[in-house]
Amino acid sequence: MKCYELTKAGEEFALQLRERPQPEPGPGQVRVRVHACSLNYRDLLVRQGRYGRRTEGLVPLSDGAGEIEAVGAGVQGLQPGDRVAGCFFQGWSQGPFNAAFQDTALGGGRDGVLTEQVILEEHGVVCLPAHLSWAEGACLPCAGLTAWNALVTRGALQRGATVLLQGTGGVSIFALQLAVALGAQVILLSSSDAKLGRGRALGAAQTINYHTFPDWEQEVWKLTEKRGVDHVVEVGGNLDKSLKCLAAGGHIAQVGVLGGGSGAINLFPLAMKNARLDGIYVGSRADFEVMKDFLNKQQLHPVIDHIFPFDQAAEAYEHLASGGHFGKVVIEV
Ligand SMILES: NC(=O)c1ccc[n+]([C@@H]2O[C@H](COP(=O)([O-])OP(=O)(O)OC[C@H]3O[C@@H](n4cnc5c(N)ncnc54)[C@H](OP(=O)(O)O)[C@@H]3O)[C@@H](O)[C@H]2O)c1
Repeated sequence: MKCYELTKAGEEFALQLRERPQPEPGPGQVRVRVHACSLNYRDLLVRQGRYGRRTEGLVPLSDGAGEIEAVGAGVQGLQPGDRVAGCFFQGWSQGPFNAAFQDTALGGGRDGVLTEQVILEEHGVVCLPAHLSWAEGACLPCAGLTAWNALVTRGALQRGATVLLQGTGGVSIFALQLAVALGAQVILLSSSDAKLGRGRALGAAQTINYHTFPDWEQEVWKLTEKRGVDHVVEVGGNLDKSLKCLAAGGHIAQVGVLGGGSGAINLFPLAMKNARLDGIYVGSRADFEVMKDFLNKQQLHPVIDHIFPFDQAAEAYEHLASGGHFGKVVIEV
């Protein structure tokens, strides 16, 4: 089978196409024929060797969807032909997070899904709803589940709540779709007016260009008539600003630090607003199952910016790195 491995190239790592023998599933494992995978910002960090794990020889990418080809001894409830997506953490079935799960992260702690065939744990896959294509299914494991946990599992989002979303990448656009489906009012930030237009078409109630308005927290404050927003999905590393425009009793889901995340933070508003701050690290298989049922009920389709063929995997990385995308970048295998 063909797969990509990361190999050292100067300061960073580069994709190398390799041949490996067909892997065989052990007890409690399944072999999946990968049909599509999607990229996350994290995969750029892995390629830069900044993810703190083994990188040399690693098969990258966490998010893939495909068809079960073979099952190992003792596997129950799964069979060849089942359409599945892999879970980001192969070892996190349910319950609270444990640091040991990091070793089971696809395309990080262990080989990922930029490959024709992959061995996954029986409890590390979720069956896909019929309305999703392979490419759409490949968008769920990291970006989808992170947005779901930020807003729903941990955020306990209520109908009519206001939500602030930052940028138009994979997590934020998924969060936009979920928030709109759940009856929330979204304020969307982006560096691009054209992308903000696309965000409004998806249901964002109000939009702010964070380049035009670097003090966007003041604009959010005005738009909410000095009440603030109930939820922030914080992907930018803008905690100081997000705290300023958070409503009393509001919730911040700390997901990413795109802008660097350094700088002084005034934590006073966190207490004075009786606010909640949650760190989010993707989620468990049990969370994925609940999200999947919701997507099925809503017949919701993830937003895909571009689909690249397998032999243009490197171009897919460059497209994500350019920041020109809106939603998800997918590679068809
Ligand atoms: N903790 C977790 O479990 C978890 C899971 C997934 C992702 N993350 C993190 O969440 C972040 C987003 O991931 P992703 O995969 O959705 O990324 P992505 O698809 O690459 O999205 C990047 C987009 O974010 C916007 N952006 C860039 N810099 C920004 C800034 N300083 N402030 C606000 N927005 C900014 C830009 O949108 P515009 O072009 O519209 O401006 C950019 O296109 C990353 O930091 C990632 O590591 C964490």
